[in-house]
Amino acid sequence: MADVYYHDYLQLDRLLSSQRLESEAAGAAQHDEMLFIIVHQAYELWFKEILWELDDVIAAFGEDELDESEMGRVNGRLRRVTEIQKLLLAQIDVLETMTSLDFLDFRDHLVPASGFQSMQFRLIENRLGVRTEDRVTFGGARYTERLHGEQRQAVIASEDDPSIHDLVASWLKRTPFLEEFDFWTVYRDAVRSMLEADRDIVRSNPELTEEEREAQLRSFDQTFRQYEAVFDADKHAALVESGARRLSHRSFQAALFISLYRDQTALHQPFRLLELLMDIDQGFTTWRYRHALMTQRMVGRRVGTGGSAGAAYLTRNAEKSRAFPDLFSLPTFLIPRAKLPPLPTELAEAMRFRFET
Ligand code: HEM
Repeated sequence: MADVYYHDYLQLDRLLSSQRLESEAAGAAQHDEMLFIIVHQAYELWFKEILWELDDVIAAFGEDELDESEMGRVNGRLRRVTEIQKLLLAQIDVLETMTSLDFLDFRDHLVPASGFQSMQFRLIENRLGVRTEDRVTFGGARYTERLHGEQRQAVIASEDDPSIHDLVASWLKRTPFLEEFDFWTVYRDAVRSMLEADRDIVRSNPELTEEEREAQLRSFDQTFRQYEAVFDADKHAALVESGARRLSHRSFQAALFISLYRDQTALHQPFRLLELLMDIDQGFTTWRYRHALMTQRMVGRRVGTGGSAGAAYLTRNAEKSRAFPDLFSLPTFLIPRAKLPPLPTELAEAMRFRFET
């Protein structure tokens, strides 16, 4: 058998002959179009790797039981995605060495193509759990409309596949420790006494005017009402109905429990998972804002080659297209460690050694 040869193994003949300049085809090659193509191709290669990692995570969660030994692997895959995201962000700096005027030299040759048509980007969004209703539309069309043929079919089909958001939601629902003691009654009392203590500070603070005192006391009532929705399944269901929450009451409570008792050995990996999901969501959101800024810098207020309102569309979509918004609202409901109800001894012992009960 012939020795493996670097050039052949990496199929470099195909890879390195895949840069066709539209400006050259039109008669006058523009230097920066090579950079533009290579940066986009590098993105697509990394998107492929991200999908490879996410699919492995989905397969692990798709099993009935997620064994503790698999958590390390799942978190390792997600950590890799976060490292790749740093490269995705850094590539914008490389692309920005092309000036706005350089871009104008070949931009018109690209119409109506656009990153909006990146199949892999849409697959990543859908694998993570960005929903159709989370997207900003333009021209009244569905985001899949601009994709062609097989790529459109693949993206539409991926909408029905289980997303990491949904798989993590049902994994959270199965969190075992919640069954073992009535955490919510204890937690609610802890929250209440924390708020009462804060209220007393306001009541007895001699520095406040009567008006300030009343305003601060009113804001405590508001905070308390927010907490109430965490304890009340019906109020939580109303939030889900209105689109303000995605996780079910039970899954949301489990995520909060994991965040509060994250110091317990058994919760280290689950907490790490929640953190990594936030890192990934934050990574894509950061990239979206950065991409919107680059667009503004490159083309100002012009419409995009794909026909959107350009940077304005991209900025709005950065705010909306989030996969794990509920995880970002958990900190509202955290209480300081010192106020945390201690776990029953037996449960604390069990959590020191094992993940499952
Ligand atoms: C000169 C550089 C770039 C400019 C001016 C630019 C501009 C735009 C604009 C205006 C849109 C909105 C759709 C449209 O009307 O076309 C868009 C969408 C998009 N672009 Fe870029 N882009 C640039 C580079 C890139 C790069 C390097 C990537 C990497 C793959 C990329 C990926 C995307 C994606 C994924 C979308 C869809 C985003 C969404 O719908 O939320 N773009 N781009």
